[in-house]
Amino acid sequence: MKAIVYYKYGSPDVLKLEEVATPIPTDDEVLIKVHAVSINGSDREGLIGKPLYARLGGLRKPGHPILGSDIAGRVERVGRNIRQFQPGDEVFGELPGYHGGFAEYACAPDKTLARKPAGMTFEEAAAIPQGGVIALQGMREKGMVQPGQNVLINGAGGSAGTFAVQLAKLYGAEVTGVDNSGKLDFLRSLGADHVIDYTREDFTKNRKQYDLILDVIAHRSVFAYRRALKPNGTYFVVGGSVATLFQILLLGPWIRRTTGRNVRILVVPQNRKDLIAITELCEAGKIIPVIDRRYPLSEVPEALRYVGEGRAKGKVVINVVDK
Ligand SMILES: NC(=O)c1ccc[n+]([C@@H]2O[C@H](COP(=O)([O-])OP(=O)(O)OC[C@H]3O[C@@H](n4cnc5c(N)ncnc54)[C@H](OP(=O)(O)O)[C@@H]3O)[C@@H](O)[C@H]2O)c1
Repeated sequence: MKAIVYYKYGSPDVLKLEEVATPIPTDDEVLIKVHAVSINGSDREGLIGKPLYARLGGLRKPGHPILGSDIAGRVERVGRNIRQFQPGDEVFGELPGYHGGFAEYACAPDKTLARKPAGMTFEEAAAIPQGGVIALQGMREKGMVQPGQNVLINGAGGSAGTFAVQLAKLYGAEVTGVDNSGKLDFLRSLGADHVIDYTREDFTKNRKQYDLILDVIAHRSVFAYRRALKPNGTYFVVGGSVATLFQILLLGPWIRRTTGRNVRILVVPQNRKDLIAITELCEAGKIIPVIDRRYPLSEVPEALRYVGEGRAKGKVVINVVDK
């Protein structure tokens, strides 16, 4: 099969289109012919090998040569223990370890896959999984956002952020979106009531406080996040510098005990239940997977360059099968 591979961490220039062996599903896996795959922050992190957790699979060189986590496609073969799906089914979901998707075929266990709704295109379905599930957990399942609450999304114009802004608005919150200057109008168009340009203003230093913060790209001290929270407020981080994550892990429980402010890492396991829940909201038209650009498989390097230059608004989707 054709795949976009890389053998060292670096810029999009290290990515190459190559012929590689088609993966063989285990007894507990499904082989999927990939139609579309979307780009997430995890792909960029895996490409450059930063933050350090992006090197968990391989410290010096990538543990897996193919990036790409969120796929939509058609089941080609199923392992002998798979009951949920059969060849021909249209499915979508996250790949384990966030890799393997920039390819014509990929294998996944059935538990992170769901049936693609008939009224949804492969592109739309591929745009939902990782970002949608993070946002659902951060806003609704764990964040339990309430009408009238002040919610801030840091990194609001990317994959998880665009879903989070829409969900927070859907549940009646007053939403502040933080991203670069080129994405602020876009955030307003998604419903953000207030926007902050991270290149000009530090949201932890403007004396405003929030009930709920979802941060996809944390790099400050844990005390800065505490400062931005109302008493009893919650700050969830899903990605960012390892130094910040360690601080939160070590000092978050103490901050919680002494101030009532909940500063913690939000771990979001890949799962079908949340995937179906966020997809149902998309099907009902309550939120939308926002697709900025589309590229063919051979142009994954260009797609990742576009994302890396800070230009992507929402999702960038790779069409693996010509439409
Ligand atoms: N916790 C978990 O269980 C879990 C599970 C899966 C994934 N993750 C992590 O969750 C994160 C998800 O990110 P994503 O896919 O939403 O990323 P994304 O699509 O890359 O979006 C990140 C957004 O943040 C913006 N940004 C960059 N620097 C910023 C700054 N200093 N302040 C504010 N915004 C900034 C980016 O804008 P520019 O274009 O200007 O860079 C971009 O719009 C990743 O780190 C991933 O590894 C966590």
